[in-house]
Order: sequence, then C-alpha cells, then structure tokens
Amino acid sequence: MNGSENTIYGESYDKLKAVMDRLTESITEAAERIKEKTGMEPIEHLKYRIKSDESMREKCRRKGLPETEDSALHKVHDAIGLRVVCTFLDDVYAIRDCIKSLEGIEVFREKDYIRNVKPNGYRSYHMIVMLGGFFAEIQIRTISMDTWAALEHHMRYKKNIGGNTALIFEELKRCADELAATDASMLTIRNMINEEDGRQ
Ligand code: GTP
Ligand code: MG
Repeated sequence: MNGSENTIYGESYDKLKAVMDRLTESITEAAERIKEKTGMEPIEHLKYRIKSDESMREKCRRKGLPETEDSALHKVHDAIGLRVVCTFLDDVYAIRDCIKSLEGIEVFREKDYIRNVKPNGYRSYHMIVMLGGFFAEIQIRTISMDTWAALEHHMRYKKNIGGNTALIFEELKRCADELAATDASMLTIRNMINEEDGRQ
C-alpha cells in the first residue's frame, strides 16, 4: 500500500508509517548497544506492518466498531504492529526495557505471556505503546516462541483437521513447554560460555 487516502486510515496513513519507522529504527539502535555489551546479536529478526485496510475493517466489525478512521486509530490498538524475534530469553526483557526508555514513548498496556503462559502454551511479551499520538502493538518473543506461534496460528485456520484436533492441541502444548525449557537451558549455556570467556 502506498500511503493511500482511500484506506480506513485516511490522511493519517503517512503519519502511522513515520511512527512505525521511528520505532523500528530505535529498536535496531538499541540492539546495536546490547550487542556491544554481550557480544551477540539480541534480535534475530524484526518484522513490522501497518495493518491492511481489509484486516482493520474486519477487526472493527468483529469488535462492533464503526469502520472509521477514529476506530482504526484510537479504538483498535494495532494499526502499527511490530514483532521483535530475539535470540535469547533475556534479550526479550532487554529489548522491552529499551523500548520503555525511548523518548516520548508511553506504555499503555503490557502483557507478559512468558511469565503468565496462555493455557494453550502461547508465550510472548506484548506491549501496547503510544508514540507521536498513535498506538502500536509490539510483540517480543524468542525464535522458539515464534516458530511455535506460527504453527499454532496455522493450525487455528485449518478447518478440516477432524478427529485429531484434541491430540494436536495437546502436542502443541507439550512442545511449547519443551521449547520453553530449551530456551532456559540455552540461556544458561550462553552465560556459562560468557563466564568462561571472562565477559559478563
Ligand atoms: P486483540 O486480539 O488485538 O483484540 O487484543 P487481545 O487483547 O486479544 O490481545 P493479545 O495481546 O492477547 O493478542 C494480540 C496478538 O497476539 C494476536 O493478534 C496474535 O497475533 C497474538 N496472539 C495472542 N494469543 C495468541 C495465541 O494463542 N496464539 C498465537 N499464535 N498468537 C497469539
Ligand atoms: Mg486477540
């Protein structure tokens, strides 16, 4: 989409994009600083998007909101969405702290689905922030959590799974917990290596 006024965002589209760019630039800079300290890249990848016109309209309808610019910008909070996929578990919190300390940012809501795991096994750190007058949803997670969320999301949209549904959800939950244990072990190993190395 190219800043079109024909979307639900009206003339605010370019401003949304500018706020999103500021966020991605600041997070990338923060990652550089963390890397200088730990010697490892904290962010594996960073994805971002302005919610498409179609998805935003669908979300407004689902929430019983009128399909207006006001709903899209002020009632729905994820017109701007960022996903920060981190290498290690502690990078998630380091990135969270960097985001919180950005100039002009206000944290509107936070959900720590890593400490408070969803019953299905979903883990991620979610923040709704306000910057330059716009909301943005930021999801921060490890590579393992990201792989898991993609598979679970894929499963959710499959209509014809049939008799195996319960088993699949049970197995997904088991995998989520195993991945979490592995994330914790990987962090311990990295710290051991850094201690050996006289770093830390
Ligand atoms: P909205 O979904 O924005 O109405 O708000 P909410 O209060 O449900 O927000 P929440 O922070 O729980 O979820 C926001 C986003 O996180 C979703 O749109 C998904 O991208 C992701 N998410 C949350 N829960 C799950 C989950 O169980 N599985 C997967 N794959 N993604 C999830
Ligand atoms: Mg939701």
